[in-house]
Amino acid sequence: MANNLYTGKMAAIFDAMYQTFINYDEEYEFYNELIKEKNCTSILEIGSGTGNLAKRFQENNQDYKGLDYSQSMIAIAQERNKNSLFIHGDMRNFELENPVDAIIITGRSTSYLINNEDILDTFESVYKNLNQNGVFIFDFIDANRFIPFIKENQSILHEATYEGINYIRESHWKTTPLENFLLNWSAQYYKIVDNDKEILLDDFSTVRVFTLNEIELFLYLNNFEIIKTIDRKTYAYDTYVIVAKKNL
Ligand SMILES: C[S@@+](CC[C@H](N)C(=O)[O-])C[C@H]1O[C@@H](n2cnc3c(N)ncnc32)[C@H](O)[C@@H]1O
Repeated sequence: MANNLYTGKMAAIFDAMYQTFINYDEEYEFYNELIKEKNCTSILEIGSGTGNLAKRFQENNQDYKGLDYSQSMIAIAQERNKNSLFIHGDMRNFELENPVDAIIITGRSTSYLINNEDILDTFESVYKNLNQNGVFIFDFIDANRFIPFIKENQSILHEATYEGINYIRESHWKTTPLENFLLNWSAQYYKIVDNDKEILLDDFSTVRVFTLNEIELFLYLNNFEIIKTIDRKTYAYDTYVIVAKKNL
């Protein structure tokens, strides 16, 4: 999980850019609707990042906690949400003081679960930390649509403006001969100054995209039953969102 995008000053740049890419009000409505449908009150968000969803949960006085692997992301989330709890932890192995009604993994953070053990460990931890009637909601990038997309598009540009600053992200995705259809993602983040691109960071990560069928099997192996599969377009990726419950 070596990834400098979520560390140091990059956490702040991530925060600025993603607020343009992602409509967090809509994102909150989407997850909250699913959570409410199942009458869940206590919520854990995994991959809580810089706390943009946390802010909406907190504003609505909901029983929310965040969990993230990056201290820099948590520092920004905590500054934004003084009264929320953010746990520094790894989704592959965590233990809450008390189980919760809903666990959500947001913003395609599942892409960082690159081998099967990572996924099985995560699903097992989620299972243990959910109440009996709890629901597990998460998204992932659909391999069947994303792989053809990157084969056709060598370079993918995203522009964003936040607090008067213009940013550009130039992504290059490559399929690899590695197992699990792992992809190499290199991204250059720029700030536009006087019409010139000023490089902020050259980021490289290896990420995983999944087929729906793989996810169904991983859930089955961890005693989850799928209640809903939602096909959801997000700013850059074709994504599925799964809502699952524990098979007792
Ligand atoms: C693409 S960001 C999404 C952040 C946020 N959900 C959003 O949409 O703005 C992915 C987040 O997952 C976190 N992450 C990656 N691997 C993790 C792990 N094993 N356990 C917990 N968090 C992890 C990263 O630190 C980062 O904050």
